[in-house]
Amino acid sequence: MSSIQPSTNAQDEVYWQGITQQFMVSPGEIYLNTGSWGVQARPVFEALVQRMEALEGNPTRNRKIHNEAVASSRKCLAQFVNAPPENLTFVTNVTIAINHVVLGLTWQPGDEILTSDQEYGAIDNCLHHASQRWGLTIKRATIPIPPSDPQEIVDAFRKEISDKTRLLVCSHIASQRGLITPVQKLADLAHHHGALIAIDGAHAPGMIPLDLETYGVDFYGGNCHKWLCAPKGTGFLYARSEVQDLLQPIAVSWGYNQNGATRTEDGQLQINGQPFLWQLSHIGTRELACFATVADAIAFQNEIGKDRILARGKQLTSYLRQKLGQTEWAKLVTPTHPEMSGLLSTFQLEGFNGLPLGQVLYDRYRITTPVSQNRQNCTQRVSTHIYNSFSEIDTLVDALTELREEALA
Ligand SMILES: Cc1ncc(COP(=O)(O)O)c(C=O)c1O
Repeated sequence: MSSIQPSTNAQDEVYWQGITQQFMVSPGEIYLNTGSWGVQARPVFEALVQRMEALEGNPTRNRKIHNEAVASSRKCLAQFVNAPPENLTFVTNVTIAINHVVLGLTWQPGDEILTSDQEYGAIDNCLHHASQRWGLTIKRATIPIPPSDPQEIVDAFRKEISDKTRLLVCSHIASQRGLITPVQKLADLAHHHGALIAIDGAHAPGMIPLDLETYGVDFYGGNCHKWLCAPKGTGFLYARSEVQDLLQPIAVSWGYNQNGATRTEDGQLQINGQPFLWQLSHIGTRELACFATVADAIAFQNEIGKDRILARGKQLTSYLRQKLGQTEWAKLVTPTHPEMSGLLSTFQLEGFNGLPLGQVLYDRYRITTPVSQNRQNCTQRVSTHIYNSFSEIDTLVDALTELREEALA
């Protein structure tokens, strides 16, 4: 094996060590699973705790401070993803965001939803539920694994879209293999056929820079508790102003008005004197400190810079892919095309069958990565974020090599 060197220098490593130390990963843990949940930086976590403490002094009177902080945090998030604040609302997670769309639209029997064979299980469940409830047909584009060009993804959807398609649902960054889809081109395709488009952006905020207004999608759900490393239970729903009134509430609460919605003079849809979307997601009492703290997570990342974060993640990703690429037993199933590839890398591993790999990696090496295994296949997804290091990747590759030798002995 030739020796692969990290593409970095001593000065950069000092900088990134300083960043890494601010994150709350326990000493000795190698956390390579931001794709499931990110780790908070200590200053972000402290901001959260302070907010929660401030409320508890008098939960009735102090709630107002939270409401103001949430409004300002929403503005920060809107700027971070390039969307007008009134077109974006906090929700607990992307699952809720997509439920707001799929269960909130009004359907006729025979309507079709077009999705892909790469979607997250909980979202698939939501689509299945809608199909059973309203007599809808769910069609699936088959995405080549891995595609060699973004156009192949658009073509896969084009093959299945029809005049009956009312909604296209697709991940921006697919969960299993980290494939990045060309959302703007998919929006054009959907609109050309008179369909709406909803994007599941669970992994995108904090991993890649986002530009929601330019994408032209109708709905976009995102998570802040993965790559943006905000408190758990923070997500958002974006809806273009022209399509907001298509959404019925999925649970009715104080964000409802018995006389319906109104429009301001400049055409903005409102309920109870507030933007329609903010009210749509106002469903009873919920923890507000976590939404307010999204602003702190954004400030932390902005201080480093979005492009710099992505570039660092890509350095780590490339090192990991090169190192495992040298073996004969790890096959990358994430595309390598720069437009379709981010900070998730999924490998098909050969030679580990019979070994509960995810568990053993943790028990022996304190490495956390999701592994999915059956008799024929073993796949491992590795997330490389700014709190990870080249030496952690070395440890992972050495551990896999050692465990495979043992499994085959
Ligand atoms: C593509 C995708 N969509 C949706 C989700 C669900 O996220 P949450 O449980 O935060 O709603 C995930 C979680 O990993 C995901 O990977």
